[in-house]
Amino acid sequence: MITEEEFFSRMPKIIGHRGACGLAPENTLASLRKAAEIGTSFVEIDVTVTQDSVAVIQHDNDVRRCSNGSGPILLKTLEEIQQLDAGSWFSDEFKGEKIPTLRQATDTLADLGLGLNLEIKPCSGWQIPTTEQVAKELLDYWPEDLPLLISSFNVDALYEMGRLIPDIPRGYLTSAIPPDWEERLTDSGCASLHCERHYVTKDQVKAIKKAGFQLLVYTVNDPEEAEKFLGWGVDAVITDFPDRMFGALEL
Ligand code: G3P
Ligand code: MG
Repeated sequence: MITEEEFFSRMPKIIGHRGACGLAPENTLASLRKAAEIGTSFVEIDVTVTQDSVAVIQHDNDVRRCSNGSGPILLKTLEEIQQLDAGSWFSDEFKGEKIPTLRQATDTLADLGLGLNLEIKPCSGWQIPTTEQVAKELLDYWPEDLPLLISSFNVDALYEMGRLIPDIPRGYLTSAIPPDWEERLTDSGCASLHCERHYVTKDQVKAIKKAGFQLLVYTVNDPEEAEKFLGWGVDAVITDFPDRMFGALEL
């Protein structure tokens, strides 16, 4: 696995959100390809598990919003998941796109040479089995030389991943920055804090950077706002539209 130090030394200032989800259906292989096509080098995607314990790439616990199906992923087998159309809801151009497995996403990322911020999105109550399965699969097939960071809003998932594969850098996801952020990051062994754009102030950026942590802000789709955060010292912004950033910012 690539070390924490190397991951952050290679991490670009612009990270594609759910692939490049402003331009292609989120969390699909098409979204990864689109991200690469427009020049993105690192992406964020979300991972959860099926009923038969296969890690699949999807943001919500339910397939309703991003496919032609409905119901919780945790109650569906991989075979059922793979019958769904996960592209038509976005546009006809992507009709027939599937919900990928983590394995398929990994193969595509490796082909494209994209670094990954993998966000664990467990169904509440299923954080440990989800993390165990993701860890097992990563140990099985993640390419050693491909940059990988694990992030989650779920603290149990972060601790469990740290216990199972301590070498993978981890990111602590939050909306508002908690007052005791430093203690939380230190205690959980997380190298980075990822927070929601509305809640970030210049003083907080200064303090977090001074304490030696990496700071990522999501979801920033306005290049002027990205420029502001990067100017404050934020390490990377996560965006649905990497193309807008590449067109407007000097990186
Ligand atoms: O990792 C940044 C962002 O993806 C976190 O929120 O809900 O889009 O997964 P969400
Ligand atoms: Mg996410």
